[in-house]
Amino acid sequence: MTATSAGRYVGAAVRIDQINAEPQLRSAILRDCGSITPEIHMKWDSLQPERGVWNFAPADGLASFARTNGLKVRGHALLWDQSTPGWVRDQLKATPNSWNHISRYFGTVMNRYRNAVDEWDVVNEPIDTEGGVNGLRKTVFYNAYGSSYIERALHEARFRAPTARLAINEYGLEYDNPVDEARRVAMLRLLERLRQNGVPIDVVGIQAHLDLGKGAPHGAAINAFFSVIADMGLKIAITELDVKEVSASGAVSTRDQRVADHVRAYLDIVNAHPAVMGVTTWGLSDRHSWLQNQPVSPTVNAARLNRGLPYDANLRAKPMHSTLHQAMTDAELAAVTTR
Ligand code: XIL
Repeated sequence: MTATSAGRYVGAAVRIDQINAEPQLRSAILRDCGSITPEIHMKWDSLQPERGVWNFAPADGLASFARTNGLKVRGHALLWDQSTPGWVRDQLKATPNSWNHISRYFGTVMNRYRNAVDEWDVVNEPIDTEGGVNGLRKTVFYNAYGSSYIERALHEARFRAPTARLAINEYGLEYDNPVDEARRVAMLRLLERLRQNGVPIDVVGIQAHLDLGKGAPHGAAINAFFSVIADMGLKIAITELDVKEVSASGAVSTRDQRVADHVRAYLDIVNAHPAVMGVTTWGLSDRHSWLQNQPVSPTVNAARLNRGLPYDANLRAKPMHSTLHQAMTDAELAAVTTR
């Protein structure tokens, strides 16, 4: 079932090597998803690891898989500090006034994937309220161009792909703590600035890397945050949903139920907002989850797998799977009865 609620999609971050090697994973994607996000293939260090060296094959493979199967692709991500190749970092430092690197890169990539990608994460993770300047992260782009790199990137993206939706994608916006609160405020300030200056932006991507250790998702704060975003005329995409739970105690079945309940609570909050277009999980199976590589406290058994995605490491659906799809179906029914 490709779950949609009020036209909402369900998606997942995927890799073409894994899809090709694992028929079960491939079937799960085709069963569950209307949209996919390349987990790594469309990052700059994957597409252009060296100056003059293009590595299009994995992203091309994914685009063709999507086309064959009628899936939409979220292009992820044009500018992200962490996936910027070393040679680009060097260039930006050497010639900080030149925008050529960015415009050429956007031109090549956005043109190549113009038929596959309907939404681009143009700027990924621009917010930093702890070590940043006025809430903005001191990325390699910030250091080269100042805060206006965000405006310039969005204008460039609109020019290169006039029909694609353009997004800013960010994490750390879900919970009731001072850092998340400051990050929500900083994000709204940034969006206000962009709207006031007529900068092209269509979507706010909410990564939603959830964490059982952070308490319940902060419904009131999320509602206020999403309402302001919607009032600006912007859409919202949940782009990287997963749940960190590796420190949770109890039997596997208990942990899995807690993850499912947490996801349900979060989705019921976000799905109440008509601006939310869809929900993408950051992977489908625990086998491939990036959470397995996240640092854990020394008290946690290092061999323990984090169980934060819809399928376990053997591709068996967990409670999170039925909960996710049920939450989307329920939201659709609610939308139909209130129409
Ligand atoms: C992660 C991938 O899952 C890893 O495989 C890769 O090594 C690093 O990036 N926020 C993002 C994603 O926007 O691109 C990141 O993905 C996870 C955090």
